[in-house]
Amino acid sequence: MCGIVGYIGFRDAYPIVIKGLHRLEYRGYDSAGVALLNKDEELKVYKKAGKVSDLENFVKDIDTSSTIGMGHTRWATHGAPSDRNSHPHSSGDRKLTIIHNGIIENYNSIKEALLAKGHVFLSDTDTEVLIHLVEDIQHETGLELREAVRVALNRVIGAYAIVIMSADEPNELIAARKGSPMVIGVGKGEYFIASDATPIVEYTKNVIYLNDNEIAYIRRDDLLIKNIDNTVQTPYIQKLELQLEMLEKGGYDHFMLKEIYEQPRSVRDCLRGRIYPQQGKVQLGGIKEYVEKLKNVDRIIIVACGTSWHAGLVGEYLIEEYARVPVEVEYASEFRYRNPIITEKDLVIAISQSGETADTMAAIELAKEKGATIFGICNVVGASIPRLTHAGVYTHAGPEIGVASTKAFTAQVTALTLMAFYIAQQRGTITQSKLIEYLTELNEIPTLIEKTLKTNDHVKVIADKFKDSTNCLFLGRGSSFPVALEGALKLKEISYIHAEGYPAAEMKHGPIALIDEDMPVVFIATKNSSYEKVISNIQEVRARGGHVIAIVSEGDTTVKNMADFVIEIPQTAEAFVPLLATIPLQLLSYHIAVMRGCNVDQPRNLAKSVTVE
Ligand code: AGP
Ligand code: GLU
Repeated sequence: MCGIVGYIGFRDAYPIVIKGLHRLEYRGYDSAGVALLNKDEELKVYKKAGKVSDLENFVKDIDTSSTIGMGHTRWATHGAPSDRNSHPHSSGDRKLTIIHNGIIENYNSIKEALLAKGHVFLSDTDTEVLIHLVEDIQHETGLELREAVRVALNRVIGAYAIVIMSADEPNELIAARKGSPMVIGVGKGEYFIASDATPIVEYTKNVIYLNDNEIAYIRRDDLLIKNIDNTVQTPYIQKLELQLEMLEKGGYDHFMLKEIYEQPRSVRDCLRGRIYPQQGKVQLGGIKEYVEKLKNVDRIIIVACGTSWHAGLVGEYLIEEYARVPVEVEYASEFRYRNPIITEKDLVIAISQSGETADTMAAIELAKEKGATIFGICNVVGASIPRLTHAGVYTHAGPEIGVASTKAFTAQVTALTLMAFYIAQQRGTITQSKLIEYLTELNEIPTLIEKTLKTNDHVKVIADKFKDSTNCLFLGRGSSFPVALEGALKLKEISYIHAEGYPAAEMKHGPIALIDEDMPVVFIATKNSSYEKVISNIQEVRARGGHVIAIVSEGDTTVKNMADFVIEIPQTAEAFVPLLATIPLQLLSYHIAVMRGCNVDQPRNLAKSVTVE
């Protein structure tokens, strides 16, 4: 979802900005642009629809030397992807220029007022209106730029992360945010700005996460942060945990494959310091202040989007099974507009890999207004959602660059498993001996994931058989139903094959009409409480000429004799099957997408973090 990069210091700005835009490509975009202030203090803007590499070709013969600059990758919300709608956008006198992530919701009324004053707009975007508003305020009031920006932002409704440059202020960048992410990297005699830490980490580990309604006035040797009500804020410098090598592909063809193979480590990291199998104890420091709440809560509502919503569905099974607390799982995008009945007795758990998903943030705000306690399960330290929630659990999966979420999903399910056991521990709904048994098994899951990854070559053979399918069904029962949904999402979002996930039992209520020899059906058919029922469903599909791919427990020969293909995963407790069954489905989608020549890490139309509604 769009990317912002800015630099001011002693180095050549352009290479830093362009490299930063490449690092942010994973977020998804449709066009790119840069603004530079050259040695003659002329403000130069270069921008194009297309890839960052197209922009680089566009400027390759131009003198881009400058020690102050900024860049943007756009994910269009207002105005089609085009050269003229790309950012940066400039004021009428071309002395000011802006890049923006987010949506100016009241741009229309502002634009009408400015048009009436003679302003001429070159684009269809909301962003261009904001820089003309700043220009107009300066012109009308004589205010200097810092104050004009602050006044303008007080008139804006919506979400923004912006950086503004001025030909009249060659030694300053002005950055501000509300609802869209922004990080400032603090160097020696230099500052970096970006949508997240990935463009910054190779230059400095000292970062400031700008808060909503804050404006940063950044000079080479000075940083002033104010609130838009003009109160000075004290910058809080944090140390980045991010390592540069985490942002490289590490020899894999794609980030997605690297992240699939990182899952033994990422699940281990999520468990680290939180389980004590011999003592039968779970420890979650991030929510320990809320033990009393957990003992008395009478409903848990999980809000999330996409893959995170699927993880929430797994969490529902786990929390109800072990903690015996009623759970509702809601699409955040629906929950936020539904006027739900929420009381201070409710616990809301918001799940988000990026911690920046606009719908999930809005759902949190709504639940907070109604008095609920809000926990977050997030993968990005310092992101907006962890700062919006009362408490939470980080998944510690490391940066997830591939747009298709993989290691974040298994880390979220791991975190939810820990939460289910933790709440059960507080409420006394699980015995010590059972906890010892489950935590001992849970501690083995990273090893079992490693074993499951060894099915890769076999999965690749199956992928080759089904790579030309136009539709696919994924079926599972119990906590394998969300795994079916997740498998379907993976396939459709990276291979563009239409895929649906269903409860296996639901087939007979309609979807079975779809079955024929052109419809591959993927079953999660591991040995658990609904195994026999799933076998019947497999036979129903076979009887209608359907082709069956089944995820089965190691050594299963029954399903092997009725399916076209089986993929064996290690035996484990029913509670932990989602953590293993998901892996072959990730690999299946990955290989099919590669065989179809799709852009696996940056699928069409998708963004890694959906920071707009
Ligand atoms: C999943 O592969 C997609 N990338 C998408 O559904 C994603 O899970 C969703 O946009 C939620 O993102 P979040 O976890 O960062 O909030
Ligand atoms: N709303 C702005 C536009 O459509 C910014 C979109 C973005 O976040 O990239 O240009």
